[in-house]
Amino acid sequence: MTATPALSRTDPPAPPRGRFVTFEGGEGAGKSSQIAHLAERLRGRRLDVVITREPGGSPGAECVRHVLLTGAAERFGPLAEACLFAAARADHVDRTIRPALSRGAWVLSDRFYDSSRVYQGDGGVAPDMLRLLEAVAVAEVRPDLTLLLDVPAEIGLARAGSRRGGGDADRFEKEDVAVHERRRRAFLDLAAREPHRFAVIDATATPTEVSEAIWRAVGNRLGLPAAPEAE
Ligand code: TYD
Repeated sequence: MTATPALSRTDPPAPPRGRFVTFEGGEGAGKSSQIAHLAERLRGRRLDVVITREPGGSPGAECVRHVLLTGAAERFGPLAEACLFAAARADHVDRTIRPALSRGAWVLSDRFYDSSRVYQGDGGVAPDMLRLLEAVAVAEVRPDLTLLLDVPAEIGLARAGSRRGGGDADRFEKEDVAVHERRRRAFLDLAAREPHRFAVIDATATPTEVSEAIWRAVGNRLGLPAAPEAE
């Protein structure tokens, strides 16, 4: 294998790279409203912000989302589902995330590969297999910061149920409290294994407290440009 040559003084400067922040957590953790709030605050600092989500976030991945969340792929088994999540992720990375980061934008994604590690891992797909799919799907695009909005399963499910009103639960919301609590533990384990990437946020606090905790974590971990004079 040949070594990567060192940069010389005549090499062009590295292109700007934005920041990639992912939000993870179980049902009803309040991710989407917190993402919208963080985006607003970042835009207040004159940053270019892209909000996206998984599964989905690009036209091809949104098609796969439909197949996954209606449960149409469930009968093909957990490995086939994991492959579909990875296929959607590859398109999302190529079409949405990488181009945005290359132009210097901040990308806020509602879920990313940690959801596959937890949900498909819990569904019985071997960790080695998940790592392979992950490597293919994301290549070099890894989150700079992952905010884990942690909430006990019972509270999260009750919130998700009331948000839904009379609407149907999706394929992944239908499972019982024990499954959701197991996934919560799995997210916390991932966070403990990668403390530099993760910040665990107590999502049982009020929305204002949660958004302040997120703002502090983003500032401490990634740094923020100063507020414009008029702010
Ligand atoms: P969604 O409707 O986006 O809701 P929320 O993020 O608020 O829970 O549902 C996405 C569902 O897909 C969610 O139950 C988690 C599941 N999922 C996986 O199983 N694996 C994955 O890789 C991703 C991204 C999501």
